[in-house]
Amino acid sequence: MTPTPHIAVLGSANMDLVAYVAKAPRRGETVTGREFRTAPGGKGANQAVAAARAGATVSMIGAVGTDAYGTQLRSALEHSGVDTDMLRTVEGPTGTAHIVVGDDGGNAIVVVPGANGTVTALTPGDEGLIASADALLLQLEVPVEGVLAAARAARRHGVRTVLTPAPAQHLPPELLDATDLLLPNEHEAAALTGIIDDPSAAARSLLSQVPEVVITLGSRGSLYAARDTEPVTVAAPRVPAVDTTGAGDTFAGTLAVALAEGASVVKALTWASSAAALSVQRPGASASMPYRKEIDDEAGRTP
Ligand code: RIB
Repeated sequence: MTPTPHIAVLGSANMDLVAYVAKAPRRGETVTGREFRTAPGGKGANQAVAAARAGATVSMIGAVGTDAYGTQLRSALEHSGVDTDMLRTVEGPTGTAHIVVGDDGGNAIVVVPGANGTVTALTPGDEGLIASADALLLQLEVPVEGVLAAARAARRHGVRTVLTPAPAQHLPPELLDATDLLLPNEHEAAALTGIIDDPSAAARSLLSQVPEVVITLGSRGSLYAARDTEPVTVAAPRVPAVDTTGAGDTFAGTLAVALAEGASVVKALTWASSAAALSVQRPGASASMPYRKEIDDEAGRTP
């Protein structure tokens, strides 16, 4: 039996404030929404929940504020089995994400970092936690100094780092040097490389900076590329999307678990795509994420 992997996540925890609407407003326009929900989110917390529900032991490093959202996010993480001992509570507001979801399931998001902005360095406890993990998941919703400190700690201890470069921004070369697997979506890959509409070429270009790349292609699946092997493309299940928020985080958390368990690249991508496909059929970010049994069942249906 595969031992349960330990995944550490350093990243954001946001309360998502979500308006569901037929069509997102254009600049200067006001539209009437259908429904409003608050739901736990934040790319870091989402990836932590995805990995925990997929079967890993997961620890979250980050910060929430002293408001009610902070308390709610901590308990939502714990409810999904995520260890929050290294999730600090800092004076001030918790991060929020202001999201509009249209009838096609697509979204537009404004993030106000709040407590996430304080994650600029590691504590000795954070470093010990990273050292004990099989993999470290990183994204860019906390300050890049904090992300870099965590990636360097992982490198010192021989822990695999998986970086989701979202929201897209310039990546310091030192961060790429400490990244093992870069996991952009196609828009982030284009922003990083300047190569538009050609994910294979974008992946090849990124391989000059990191040893492994996975580009997620939404409903078209995902592409894996590494320096010494042929690229692998895996299709995604065709499903009706009601809310794509957190789909990339579902993919990242699930992929990390599969790879840490020693799954083949094809199996890991299939499993992660299946998890993401399940998540887009339900509203909310981490609330929509599937548990291991559901992922296994969905992946078993994929030809
Ligand atoms: O990746 C999805 C997440 O991005 C949302 O949960 C929201 O918090 C934003 O940060």
